[in-house]
Amino acid sequence: MVVKEQKVAVVTGCSTGIGLETCMLFARSGIHTYATMRDLSKAGLIKKIAEKEKIPLKFIEMNVNKDDSVEKAFENIFDEGMRIDILVNNAGFGLFGALEDLLITDIKKQFETNLFGAIRTIQQVLPVMRNQRSGNIVNISSVAGYIGFPTSSAYVSTKFALEGLSESLAYEIEQFGINIILIEPGVINTNFVKNIMIPDNTQPISSSILASSSPSTSPTVISTISNTHPDNPKYQREITQYARVVDSFLSHYYPAMRNAPDPKEVARVIMKSIQRSVVSNKEGVNFFRYPVGEDAKLYAEAKKKMSDYELHSFVAKRTIT
Ligand SMILES: NC(=O)c1ccc[n+]([C@@H]2O[C@H](COP(=O)([O-])OP(=O)(O)OC[C@H]3O[C@@H](n4cnc5c(N)ncnc54)[C@H](OP(=O)(O)O)[C@@H]3O)[C@@H](O)[C@H]2O)c1
Repeated sequence: MVVKEQKVAVVTGCSTGIGLETCMLFARSGIHTYATMRDLSKAGLIKKIAEKEKIPLKFIEMNVNKDDSVEKAFENIFDEGMRIDILVNNAGFGLFGALEDLLITDIKKQFETNLFGAIRTIQQVLPVMRNQRSGNIVNISSVAGYIGFPTSSAYVSTKFALEGLSESLAYEIEQFGINIILIEPGVINTNFVKNIMIPDNTQPISSSILASSSPSTSPTVISTISNTHPDNPKYQREITQYARVVDSFLSHYYPAMRNAPDPKEVARVIMKSIQRSVVSNKEGVNFFRYPVGEDAKLYAEAKKKMSDYELHSFVAKRTIT
């Protein structure tokens, strides 16, 4: 049961990474936190920690791709009290590969989670936040929410969309004292690479780069066209025509993940951003952006200062040359 006056938070995608660290930090700070995840069997370890530390952390099943799962999760949360102070839209994954190699159905899956998932939860919390005339909606975007990167067009599109949605929504909800916060991490050391989806004709490139940078990680392979061929059932689609650019990009990206900041750093920025937004809202400001990590800060500065042409060359030099 929520203690009166206690802040209440809902975080999506808490099984690993940024979501896990955020729900732990919230609960350890005394915020009554609903850690949601699509597979509750992954909650084992944090459940044990929460019980041991006696922190206010509850676990709720929520698959952000599904209307009924999101509705049911919020019904359970609202049964305990009609208050939500913080929503963190964190659940997400990356679909990588050249656009020509991707199937529309896979691109739709990418939007289903990274964009529509966030819209579903926002629509659930808005009536409650409007009623209480306060609230913080934190959307986990990315450096890929304001800069396009090679072989990342599907992922980048979802994060640009999330940024546009957040910027627009801020005008609608400021009258109700609700804040929108965009968190824009650069590369962060989580399971993100392990959970990346990659088309089959790109997978061999990805695997060999990964084998040399992190042998224990293998991304999900998707078959964007059938692996079968009328003459030869073992036929595999030829390697992507975009091999050079994919190879260069992943050769920069995968090793960067090894030395990247810990997801705890993102959780700390989320916490600070909420504390600051509460103060700023009293001065009439309700929309905020926070890059996380040196790479994200560098790119954010570059985006502000450079012409489109300069920015294109800057990104190319750092990623595919
Ligand atoms: N790591 C980075 O470099 C980085 C950089 C910028 C932004 N981000 C963003 O940060 C967020 C978190 O990523 P992460 O780095 O922490 O990666 P992660 O360790 O792979 O965590 C992703 C989380 O999202 C969950 N998820 C995926 N699809 C879901 C669905 N349909 N419903 C509910 N949960 C779902 C995963 O659950 P399962 O365990 O069930 O798969 C997992 O808990 C993502 O939005 C990502 O785009 C990451």
